[in-house]
Amino acid sequence: HGLQRSLIQRGARKGDLISRMVMDVGLRLDPFPAYEELRGRGPISANDLISASVDHAVCNEVLRSDAFGTAGGQGELPRPLQWLHHKVIDPDALGPVDPPSMLAVDPPLHTRYRKQVARAFTARKVGRMGDRVTDVAGHLLDELAGVEDFDLIERYASQLPVTVIADLLGVPEQDRDRLLALGNEAAVTLDPGLSWRQFRRAEDALREMHTWFRGHVERISANPGDDLISQLTLLEGEDRLDPVELHQVGLLVLAAGFETTVNLIGNAVAMLDGHPDQLRWLQENPDGWGNAVDEVLRHQSPVQLTLRIALRETEVAGKRFLPGHGILLYLGGANRDPAVFTDPGAFDVTRPNADQHLAFSAGVHFCLGASLARLETAVALRTLYERHPGLHVAGRPERRETRVLRGFERLPVRTTARV
Ligand code: HEM
Repeated sequence: HGLQRSLIQRGARKGDLISRMVMDVGLRLDPFPAYEELRGRGPISANDLISASVDHAVCNEVLRSDAFGTAGGQGELPRPLQWLHHKVIDPDALGPVDPPSMLAVDPPLHTRYRKQVARAFTARKVGRMGDRVTDVAGHLLDELAGVEDFDLIERYASQLPVTVIADLLGVPEQDRDRLLALGNEAAVTLDPGLSWRQFRRAEDALREMHTWFRGHVERISANPGDDLISQLTLLEGEDRLDPVELHQVGLLVLAAGFETTVNLIGNAVAMLDGHPDQLRWLQENPDGWGNAVDEVLRHQSPVQLTLRIALRETEVAGKRFLPGHGILLYLGGANRDPAVFTDPGAFDVTRPNADQHLAFSAGVHFCLGASLARLETAVALRTLYERHPGLHVAGRPERRETRVLRGFERLPVRTTARV
């Protein structure tokens, strides 16, 4: 807390933009002006702790470079950066990436983990899931038949991804709502600057989630089915994952599967609500949904930032990095880089190069679930607006507490046409 306070004070005193961007929880409502301020200072900015970038070329280069690694892979981080991983508060805390998950380790270990799960998420395998996803979306809307007002996040945007990923991982139906609640409480641990209360709540949720998952793996090991966890328990030889590895790989896929797509679906509905002409165009041109999903990913990136650490001395955009120096990569800012996207602040579902965004990251950690997330969201939106062509936001949306994840906690909608 002392360190946080000194960063806030430094931010206020010296006008240190990076400290402010990291610390100011208010920025979660609208981080975009701060991104433009940072952009105005050049491709990479730095204070004495860390660098930061909203430059598309820089983010892309760093994410693809083997001179940079993820923060979990390097053992001891410099102390100020540990704070970014909330470990200064409690060094023994479990986090979403503890024990180091696929997302937090570097090759060659990363390659070993990723290979095992990647097989389940190839574009071909995901393509075959289209009918099932359409059924799930239709079923969720059947359950809402006759309900005029509901919270889109609670009843639809969160339910669709959790059902799909739970099916894939063999999670029993009765456990799904509890997992959703736990995931929601735990998600704030992605952010720096947690209050003690937030931290304790998130930690309790994480512990419960870990305990649940351990039991899930035990149940499945005793009685394997055709889900991904069963496949992982049946690996043999050098591919075999030890119980800790299996735990973290499996839990990451589960959490990533239901914590991110919900934000994309919610952000899409909110954006289309503000652009009814574009919604009408999509209703007349349903082939456009795929590109519309990419435009929402670009304009309202559900994962706004990630972190990389230099593994050795290297140079990017003329700036020298020493080993251990970190760089905050604002994906949500890179996705509004005018060097790549014309009129980047404008939302345009027909934008020809919308898919050049970095919302799914790039390089070895490129989102494993990208095809699934795109499919789920396109199906969710098409089905929703087919069933309720006049659906609109009716009431005050509430943003989630997190800054790394950009999405809504509550998005009240009404199914009848706007009057
Ligand atoms: C990694 C975004 C949905 C599974 C990532 C990363 C991003 C991301 C930015 C990389 C972070 C970094 O490089 O530091 C998103 C977004 C999603 C989404 C915006 C939805 C809109 C999903 C889904 C799954 C998934 C549905 C389910 C399978 C993963 C996994 C990784 C990952 C396993 C780690 C990959 C690795 O480290 O090699 N995701 N994701 N994601 N995502 Fe997603």
